[in-house]
Amino acid sequence: MYRAEKLSKMFPDGLVAVDGIDLAIKKGEQVTFIGPSGAGKTTLFRMLNLTIPSTSGRLFLDGLEVPGLSGPRLKEARRRIGTIYQQQNLVPRLKVVHNVLAGRLGLWSTGAALFSLVRPAEVERAYGALQRVGIPEKLFARTDELSGGQQQRVAIARVLVQDPEVILADEPVSSVDPTLATSLVRLLKEISTESGKTLLMNLHSVELALSFFQRIIGLRDGKILFDSATAEITEEHLRELYTGWSPEGDAPLDRNGHTTPLSCRPLPRAL
Ligand SMILES: Nc1ncnc2c1ncn2[C@@H]1O[C@H](COP(=O)(O)OP(=O)(O)OP(=O)(O)O)[C@@H](O)[C@H]1O
Ligand SMILES: [Mg+2]
Repeated sequence: MYRAEKLSKMFPDGLVAVDGIDLAIKKGEQVTFIGPSGAGKTTLFRMLNLTIPSTSGRLFLDGLEVPGLSGPRLKEARRRIGTIYQQQNLVPRLKVVHNVLAGRLGLWSTGAALFSLVRPAEVERAYGALQRVGIPEKLFARTDELSGGQQQRVAIARVLVQDPEVILADEPVSSVDPTLATSLVRLLKEISTESGKTLLMNLHSVELALSFFQRIIGLRDGKILFDSATAEITEEHLRELYTGWSPEGDAPLDRNGHTTPLSCRPLPRAL
């Protein structure tokens, strides 16, 4: 589905957020990306969903070379990718049905006036998507009257009506409680499994990553530190990812002059 070769992104201020990444993702694969804040996860996803261009390297979407795409071909390629953000990017004052259909119509905040033209078949489609995410009764509710978790379900429903081949979820559960986070990650995984859609997810929660995914990519300083089967991830992997410390190197010190080991709890295994 994706192939990246030495993919990099340098921002105009000279900061290299993604630094020479090689990556291959198969169609239908479910992969999670973890790593400390600032590792480049969101920047990588924004290149993968064709929102921002890379500054060097190559990126292929199903064999289609991404740099160089423009106009209708770029728009068409973008339609194949659905993105779910931590901040759901919903329009709060609109009804749920309209936010869901924005995924299909490509309409965002500016489209409100056009929604009076929505056909019954479209409403039905939105209803079906809301059923899949467990909140069909909210079809005509105002979006800003929903809880954070329900709004995240609306964002998932919006991606469902878009019917993309790839779902990119960038920290989709950072702002909800742990129980809800688990159920939302489970829902996204089920949707991917039943539909064959590729699922790529950035997660801050290592526990969720280990529990739900069989392939984990660790990003640090814009580089891939490891790209492993979950069963092969060790405490050392995670320690190096989050503290920069590896058995071969010196342990970094925190601001009190102490080293910062991770907890020694056994790692949870895939469900
Ligand atoms: N538009 C931008 N212009 C300049 N620098 C940016 C821009 N966007 C991100 N960066 C920088 O790029 C680096 C990587 O940021 P990115 O948001 O990709 O990290 P992240 O891994 O998603 O972090 P987090 O876990 O906090 O979401 C950071 O140092 C960030 O400050
Ligand atoms: Mg991010």
